[in-house]
Amino acid sequence: GNTVVIEEMLVGPECSLLAFTDGKTVRPMATSQDHKRALEGDLGPNTGGMGVYSPVPIVTDEEHATMVAVMEQTVAELAAEGIDYRGCLYGGFMLTPAGPKVLEFNARFGDPETQVVLPRLKNDLVEVMLACANCELDQIELDWRDEWAVAVVLTSAGYPGSYEKGKVITGIEDAEAMENVTVYHAGTAVVDGQLVTNGGRVLAVTALGDTFENARNLAYEACEKIDFEGKTLRHDIGLRALRGRDAWDA
Ligand code: GLY
Repeated sequence: GNTVVIEEMLVGPECSLLAFTDGKTVRPMATSQDHKRALEGDLGPNTGGMGVYSPVPIVTDEEHATMVAVMEQTVAELAAEGIDYRGCLYGGFMLTPAGPKVLEFNARFGDPETQVVLPRLKNDLVEVMLACANCELDQIELDWRDEWAVAVVLTSAGYPGSYEKGKVITGIEDAEAMENVTVYHAGTAVVDGQLVTNGGRVLAVTALGDTFENARNLAYEACEKIDFEGKTLRHDIGLRALRGRDAWDA
């Protein structure tokens, strides 16, 4: 009770930038943007992520260069402190009027960011990971698909508060039969041979499209094919980005 922490209030859109590193070389991945709040309009309690897209069209070249420089300086500082950091470094940024500011670093991939970033990676992921492990990342250039990726997270009713488990899930095969759609499992389990819900964030439905709108529409079409009692989702994933940077100033 004797300590007061005063934090700077940061305002602006968020952007995640994950990067591969072998401790020396840093290879940034494509940008992505999570939607942390439970309710549409970015309202309600914080969650583990309700949806995400990649790349983030509102990021300027200057902001991107700053974020990359922060990632590179961070890895260089880790090395200077004797920390042999290899793998994925997650940078969470807020794009403030004064430039990108770090909100958090994670020593892992992001969820749900990974569900839209890796489907856009053209390289063989194993080769990239081996290059990280063997300190040969300078020999690898990352190559990205032109397609946009949008993922919508299906949650259990009540999440992030209390929710029920054990609801039978149907329709995943129909969703995955759609071209350019992949369904990623999170809170699921198989009980007595049936796929059931087993968590708050149940599935992430990712779609690739040649435009942001096409990827978005396809992701929502695929979500409609999947059903379980209490299925809940945000219907506005990516809408703000479609409206442009001004949508964050309102
Ligand atoms: N999307 C936030 C995280 O992975 O921590």
